[in-house]
Formats: sequence, structure tokens, C-alpha cells
Amino acid sequence: MSVKDLTTNSLNEIYKKISPVIPEVEWKFHAPLIQKINKLKKEKNAVILAHNYQTPEIYHGVADISADSLALALESAKTSADIIVLCGVHFMAETAKLINPEKKVLIPDMNAGCSLASSITGKDVRMLKEKYPGIPVVSYVNTSAEVKAESDICCTSANAVKVVESLGVDKVIFIPDHYLANYVQKNTKVQIISWQGTCIVHEKFTAKEVQDIRKENPDIKIIAHPECPPDVISSADFAGSTSNMVSYVKKNQPKKILLVTECSMSDNVRIENPNVQFITPCNLCPHMKTITLNKVYDCLRNESNEIKISHNIATMARKSVQRMAEIGR
Ligand code: 13P
Ligand code: SF4
Repeated sequence: MSVKDLTTNSLNEIYKKISPVIPEVEWKFHAPLIQKINKLKKEKNAVILAHNYQTPEIYHGVADISADSLALALESAKTSADIIVLCGVHFMAETAKLINPEKKVLIPDMNAGCSLASSITGKDVRMLKEKYPGIPVVSYVNTSAEVKAESDICCTSANAVKVVESLGVDKVIFIPDHYLANYVQKNTKVQIISWQGTCIVHEKFTAKEVQDIRKENPDIKIIAHPECPPDVISSADFAGSTSNMVSYVKKNQPKKILLVTECSMSDNVRIENPNVQFITPCNLCPHMKTITLNKVYDCLRNESNEIKISHNIATMARKSVQRMAEIGR
């Protein structure tokens, strides 16, 4: 997680930092918006939380906190701001709203979805609970509030094994990411019953492309997100959440690195680790990329796109998120 004090950062300082990944011609469009958003933030006592997959102009230009989905949830609980603008996808903004029912939570684009969140509904979870009576449901935070409301506890890729083992049972229903479920199964004795959801970004990576890159770059370190297929994870040196990837690079300073995940990750982490060479391929998340500076500005100025969750669903879903927060990372 990185926390920034943009009040002391001039526009020039921001550009100096992000110039390796943003050409000057593009910066001319971003700079006035960055200035206006940071001014508006102070006037409205707003905070901007951004996921690690947000573009560098959002991550380094306007975000107060940028992090993985677990840290975004935990940090949203600590803010004293009146308004939270969540630069990420819809389930992340919903999670922030569950934790902060009294605050205004805005998302710059209401259509920023997630293939995992849309792979399962509350009705599907009720059907699973009927099929496996008495087995607790662990839902990945990449789910709707309705699905969280039907679950016993949430988790993210940063704490999935810890959450599953915290229940003290020998079997759990783990939804909806089939590959994350597979990763958890490899790291615990608890029996995992999974669902067939996948992430459209991570399912595209193949073990062959990862192995070919290693052949061409024998000194490379490879980190895969646990949403990747199992043979991709086993071809990597390390698997971890997006913030675990950031920490790995900062701590180990490898000569060369491949982050097997969304494209903006490498751009954002490269800026803070100038001595590390980042090798791509990467895949874009079309949902994350619906968030732009223009939309951040509009939603903060108009206080539009407010997240609303019905009282009954919010009360039940909040319990699952709070149980996860108590377990932490
Ligand atoms: P993290 O929890 O690792 O940030 O991942 C969220 C996500 O959507 C990955 O695709
Ligand atoms: Fe969802 Fe995958 Fe995009 Fe993450 S990268 S928000 S899991 S579609």
C-alpha cells in the first residue's frame, strides 16, 4: 500500500516521477485535471482510494492511497473523509460502502464490473448451501454485496488461506474463482468446494508463455497473481496479491521481473523501482480501464455515481466483510 501526501507535491514533481511511463504529449491533458481533482478533494474533504491496476496518472497523480483489494477495504475503515472516491471496480466501492455506511462512496464509472463478481448470484449461493448443508461459504471479495450477504466470511487473495483455516472446519465452499480455489487447496488441508468463475485477465496467461520468457531471460524473477491458471502459478517463483507483488519487488530489487497480471501494475511499480527491468506481456482489465481522470473529476464535482445497498443486504454482507477484516492480512 502506498499513502501519498499530494498537498506537498507540485504538478512538476508528479510529472518528474511518472514521466518514464507517460509521454509529455499525454501529460498536457492529465495535468489540469490532476490539479483540479486535488483541489476539489481538499474542498470537499474527500479521499481517493485507488486499486493497484489504476493507470499511473490516477495512481500517482490523485490517489491518496493505492493498494490491493484487502488494504483498500481496511484503509477505508480508517478515513475521516466525508466522501470516498473508489478508483477501481464496483465490488471494491461496494465493500468500502459496507464498511462506511454513513459516508458517501462514489465510483467514477458505475459500469466498472468484474468477470468474477458477475459469475455468481445470491441465488447460486443459496443453491450451493442447499446442496452442501452446514458447509460454510467463503466468498472472494470480488463478489456483489448480495453474494457477500449469503456468505459466512469474505477473503482476498492476500488472506484466502488464513481465512479458510480460521473457520476450524474440514470443508468449505469457496466462491467464485476456480483458480484461486485451486491455489488455496494447494496450501491447506481443508477440503475446498469451488465454483467455475474466472478472471478474464488472468485466465489468458499460459504456462508456455511464462516458460518461454524464463528461457529468454534466465535471471528473471516471475510473480503470478493467484487468479492465474495453476500451471502458470507453478511456473512462477512466487504467487501473491497485487500489494504482495509490490512488496516483493521493493524488498528483493530483482534485476528483471515479470508480473503476471494486469498491465498498469508494471507501470506503477516501475516508477518506484527504477533499477528493476520490467518484462511484459501483461493483459488489460477492461473494467479497471473504464476509470479515467475525466470521470474521477466529474463524479467528485457532481457527487454522482453514489453506491447504494439495500439495508437488509448491507447488514448481512457487512458481517462477512467485518469477519475478514478481523483476520487481516
Ligand atoms: P488484489 O486483491 O490482489 O488487489 O486483486 C484484485 C483483483 O481484482 C485482481 O484481479
Ligand atoms: Fe475482476 Fe479480473 Fe478485472 Fe480483477 S482483473 S477486476 S478479477 S476482471
